[in-house]
Amino acid sequence: MCNPRNELVQVAQHGLGEEDVPVPFMDALDGITPAFRDKAYLTSLSSEMGESWADKQNASLLVLPLFDGKSEMGMIILCIDSDWEPDAETLDFMTNISHVVSGVVSRYIVNEALSIRELELEESRADAIRRLGTASEYRDNETGLHVMRMTHYSAAIAKAMGLSEEDREQLTIAASMHDVGKIGISDAILLKPGKLNKNEFETMKSHTNIGGDLLDGKDTLINAAREIALTHHEHWDGTGYPYGLKGEEIPLFGRICSIADVFDALVSKRTYKEAWELKEATDYIQQESGGKFDPDAVIAFHDALPDILRIKELYSDEVIDPNRVLSLPAIKTSKDEWVSWNDSFSIGIDIIDEHHRYLFDLVNKLHRVITDKHGAREVARVLHGLSQYAQIHFRAEEKMMDHYGFAELEHQKHQHQHFESKLKTFYDELHINPLTAQFDMITYLKEWLVRHIVVEDGRLSELVGMSVDQ
Ligand SMILES: [Fe+2]
Ligand SMILES: [Fe+2]
Ligand SMILES: [Fe+2]
Repeated sequence: MCNPRNELVQVAQHGLGEEDVPVPFMDALDGITPAFRDKAYLTSLSSEMGESWADKQNASLLVLPLFDGKSEMGMIILCIDSDWEPDAETLDFMTNISHVVSGVVSRYIVNEALSIRELELEESRADAIRRLGTASEYRDNETGLHVMRMTHYSAAIAKAMGLSEEDREQLTIAASMHDVGKIGISDAILLKPGKLNKNEFETMKSHTNIGGDLLDGKDTLINAAREIALTHHEHWDGTGYPYGLKGEEIPLFGRICSIADVFDALVSKRTYKEAWELKEATDYIQQESGGKFDPDAVIAFHDALPDILRIKELYSDEVIDPNRVLSLPAIKTSKDEWVSWNDSFSIGIDIIDEHHRYLFDLVNKLHRVITDKHGAREVARVLHGLSQYAQIHFRAEEKMMDHYGFAELEHQKHQHQHFESKLKTFYDELHINPLTAQFDMITYLKEWLVRHIVVEDGRLSELVGMSVDQ
């Protein structure tokens, strides 16, 4: 099929070499560029054709054009036995078939593009909510990464508790609003270094009610956000605020978010305290099982710890320390990955390697939704997630290069921007032709990432050994 840049992209195949190759092998069409005509026609394979055609030297090609209205959309190329010469009547019949198929394909494209628009509406609502949540944290946490970590921790705990995917998605979006009520708290209290006095603490507590008042509405997502804003400081034993709710009186989302929020506060550095060691923090959560926290959610927290520790590194506010050795518990990954990580991709900086591994995971996920034919909507969703994380990774990498005075910072920034704008182009092309865009982008992503990591990011290894306080 033609992509929006008028290049032919192979989007499906049957019987070429390996049966059911999920992503059609692009090389199979090497050297074949049959002309567009308005009727089905017969042509033959030339001798210079690619190797994959070597065993089909006896074949002729029957080309069925696909049209979208009057414009060319693509073609179906049938490999037929050269002994068979279709007569004019048969070619007419094949032309009719190509009209019918054209209709089916264009309807399919329109439906898929519609489903992406639908997703975009949902995404833009979720984005607006996330941005408001991040804005509310802006005064005491400029990067907004606390919100990201906290929402991802919540989702990981929810997963370990067996919540449905739909619930988890709602929780992830709604949790970003947990502290939206901080908008109503003055700088003098919110940014005070050191402990708050009794009155100040009472004022600080009101961020829960302020959040609850702000999030008034009938929308289910806003309702979930209100629930979380109101109850993320309630304690299982009834000693929390604002209502002193007890046990299961506290909504489940509130119980989950409370652990996620406290854990992130403990292991992060704040103006009034140093970051706790991981062991101290997990021990504290355990001690508070049945006290501050829901015992079931505490069990789930421990179960989800491998994911939680990874999230902590992927969304960290700290300048990446090239010398830090990471020893994260292994995370289960499926065996048949499209791009699989091996040590040759390691650039010698553990944290960056972890970021890159996660980008690989996201590319594999995208590959899976394409090959398993989950539809354009799901492809768009995963692509959106990939571009969001790529941005976070690039900014973290650039911050590190800047901190250590890495000479190629500008070049890297340029490359990163190029990749981001390319993802944006693919996203736009998904709306025009979801079929071609999918296959175009998956190959590009893999090649760009592998090359950038090995060639460009590989040079970052010279930062290893540099002092952290530079
Ligand atoms: Fe809070
Ligand atoms: Fe990188
Ligand atoms: Fe990079």
